Amino acid sequence: MVSMISKPLQCLALLFLLAQLTDSVFTPKPKNSIEHHKPQPSSNTYIVHVNHLLKPSRFATLDHWYKSMVATHSPSPLATNATASESGRILYTYDTVMHGFAVRLTAGEARSMSRAAGVTAVHEARMYHLHTTRSPGFLGLDPAYGVWNDTNFGDGVVIGIIDTGIWPESLSFDDTGLSPVRSSWKGGCVGLDASLCNNKLVGAKDFTSSPPNPRDEIGHGTHVASTAAGSEVDGAGLFMFARGTARGVAPKARIAMYKSCDNDGCSDPAIIAAIDAAVRDGVDIISMSLGGRPLAFHDDSLAIATFGAVRAGVFVALAAANKGPYPNTVTNVAPWMTTVGAGGVDRLFPANLTLGNDEVLIGQSLYTNKATRTAMTPLVLINECNKESYSPDVVMGKVVVCAKYGGASTGLRVQNAGGSGLIGVEENAWHGDGVDVEAYTLPSLILGRSKAMKLTEYIKSTASPVASFRFACETVSGENRAPTAVFFSSRGPNLIVPKLLKPDVLAPGLNILAAWPSDIPVSVDGRTSEYNILSGTSMACPHAAGVAALIRKKHSDWTPAMIRSAMMTTAATLDNTGRDIADQGVVDTGAADLTSATPLATGAGHVRPQLAVDPGLVYDAGVKDYVDFLCSLNYTVEQLRLFVPDIAGCPSPLPAGGPADLNYPSFVVAFNGRTRVRTLTRTVTKVYEKPEKYIVVVSAPAGVKVTVSPATLEFSKKNEKKSYTVEFRSVARRHVNQSLDFGHISWENRKHQVRSPVVFMWN
Ligand SMILES: *[C@@H]1O[C@H](CO)[C@@H](O)[C@H](O)[C@H]1NC(C)=O
Ligand SMILES: *[C@@H]1O[C@H](CO)[C@@H](O)[C@H](O)[C@H]1NC(C)=O
Ligand SMILES: *[C@@H]1O[C@H](CO)[C@@H](O)[C@H](O)[C@H]1NC(C)=O
Ligand SMILES: *[C@@H]1O[C@H](CO)[C@@H](O)[C@H](O)[C@H]1NC(C)=O
Ligand SMILES: *[C@@H]1O[C@H](CO)[C@@H](O)[C@H](O)[C@H]1NC(C)=O
Repeated sequence: MVSMISKPLQCLALLFLLAQLTDSVFTPKPKNSIEHHKPQPSSNTYIVHVNHLLKPSRFATLDHWYKSMVATHSPSPLATNATASESGRILYTYDTVMHGFAVRLTAGEARSMSRAAGVTAVHEARMYHLHTTRSPGFLGLDPAYGVWNDTNFGDGVVIGIIDTGIWPESLSFDDTGLSPVRSSWKGGCVGLDASLCNNKLVGAKDFTSSPPNPRDEIGHGTHVASTAAGSEVDGAGLFMFARGTARGVAPKARIAMYKSCDNDGCSDPAIIAAIDAAVRDGVDIISMSLGGRPLAFHDDSLAIATFGAVRAGVFVALAAANKGPYPNTVTNVAPWMTTVGAGGVDRLFPANLTLGNDEVLIGQSLYTNKATRTAMTPLVLINECNKESYSPDVVMGKVVVCAKYGGASTGLRVQNAGGSGLIGVEENAWHGDGVDVEAYTLPSLILGRSKAMKLTEYIKSTASPVASFRFACETVSGENRAPTAVFFSSRGPNLIVPKLLKPDVLAPGLNILAAWPSDIPVSVDGRTSEYNILSGTSMACPHAAGVAALIRKKHSDWTPAMIRSAMMTTAATLDNTGRDIADQGVVDTGAADLTSATPLATGAGHVRPQLAVDPGLVYDAGVKDYVDFLCSLNYTVEQLRLFVPDIAGCPSPLPAGGPADLNYPSFVVAFNGRTRVRTLTRTVTKVYEKPEKYIVVVSAPAGVKVTVSPATLEFSKKNEKKSYTVEFRSVARRHVNQSLDFGHISWENRKHQVRSPVVFMWN
């Protein structure tokens, strides 16, 4: 699977496949490129977490100590020259966001290492997967006024991107008009000609190969970097589509690329080395469009490393993953991470399919031949196009209708077998009417679910179904309901801590145009373009990182939790028609009648940068709050020391409300047979300058009584903190036929609305 992302279009395919596959367990592949000798066949890479405070004084440095540990616990059979061999086996050393090293060990050596004095945990390496012109406009960002003007486009904020590398020649990384990066910046370019780095691309490092090569050979990293902070580029587009001025969300923020992913995926030893370097270099924001199966935080090196980053004041955005619309699929669920789901934007690439019965079905297509107006052509329905071998007998001269169309290479295979067109219907995949588009090379379009149902009805109704295509090759903005919760966006509940709502927010993640390496084809026929359209929570994550950069520019003293709170409590819960944000992942009867998305899909809602820079109140949280949270999950002191090496133990008493009492801008209220009353406490910090009074507004399902005290909060000065408690009482013995329901708690006045979603669970 992971090896499939060698071509850009396969990268797109990966997004779909990820949505459908359950997690497989990956055995980390040895990376010969970063080895100076062949590993023993039975060895794997392990991350060794060390409590650096316990270093015996006989070792001058941590490195000496680590080498001695390796020599003691892993007497290498290869070693003819032991010292050289052992130091060679330490692949990465971590000293900023956490302490320890990554090393190749056999399973027995790993067990022995885990008992070594000073070692707090040994985790086998895991593989993670990579999960615009219109999207900034859609977010309400306008060059002439408002938050871009107020923040000078995020000028000077440094966003670290952990991804597949960068194509530095892109116009999106042109630094015209940018002043030099701040003098405290410690990063730089390694393995890239110095002339390719500039005041926009201020860092580029590679953790996947030796010698380092931060160039992007996949395209994903270039795309996400330009989404977060690409410079203004006029006339960008993919072929004739989505043409306009391309800009990142924070067009004057600076980019530092930390390459940790290659064609095999992203190994966590490399990801953590990248986080360590990014924080040491001095980034303000980290954006990571990758994820894996969620684990308990003490078993999850990525959770431990991101804790260190947030502790250092760095805001960390991660993608929620593309495994929706199924529940329990959200990943990157630690409370110090900002977890971003994908929203649909108000842009379509319409194309028409006229059926033999004269019915016109409007789908979407990136087919580029505008003149094409095909004749009525026979249709052949194929269930699983990705598995089909396409015998010419079956497809010659026909339009293939794919119930499961299986990615871009399908188009080429249909074409090679003499097929004359392709229709992706995805009826079985619950895609609603939001569809990803792909640059097929033969006449093709993709239909949303309600249209797909009409097409299959028609095919079943006649012995010889036919249809014809009409392509306008147009981009239409502002006509469809948006934002939506996109079908593939991963949803809660959070498997690791059900009492913490994830994802946190939605940001644009469907059909996003951003920069692309000119030497990597954008379609299977080898066409190239300097901009490409991709979909995924991978695309949503850098949008949120860009918004965080704008907030950081305006409020340089805010903690990562304050920035996230501002994004969450000001997020949109309604769409451009004034209705609830719709869920494209829920089976529905027609485009006009989509089901409302719940906070399990949207988190607090869709980001609104314009409001997020002035949230009124924020829910702050820091190391102490996160430690209390981990303590309420019953973490042992040894487990806590993975996060805070010098901690003595848990506070006593613990927060009464358990993990749900974390000072988070959302609520999860879990009732069970015995507990029908839950009381949670929150503390808000006023960040608006002037005196203000807030009144609480509550929405709760029938059968739940919510009492907030006090019900008004009056503030006289900035940075003032006030606490309130919320009592949730389930008055029905058991909630009627439902184990989940939703509501919100909002502190409001004329100027501000500070809204938190509430999820109620009964079990
Ligand atoms: C071990 O290898 C290193 C580096 O290759 C070399 O400098 C050193 O002399 C070698 N030591 C022995 C004992 O062979
Ligand atoms: C842009 O920002 C400047 C100073 O930050 C402010 O004086 C000006 O009014 C703003 N312009 C608009 C159109 O908002
Ligand atoms: C597609 O169909 C719609 C509705 O019938 C029509 O308004 C539009 O012009 C058609 N587009 C093309 C390219 O034929
Ligand atoms: C932690 O331990 C307490 C006491 O044994 C128990 O009541 C509680 O359910 C545990 N919490 C979790 C999250 O496991
Ligand atoms: C609850 O479910 C039962 C059994 O499915 C059904 O008979 C009853 O009408 C439902 N009650 C409500 C209020 O929906």
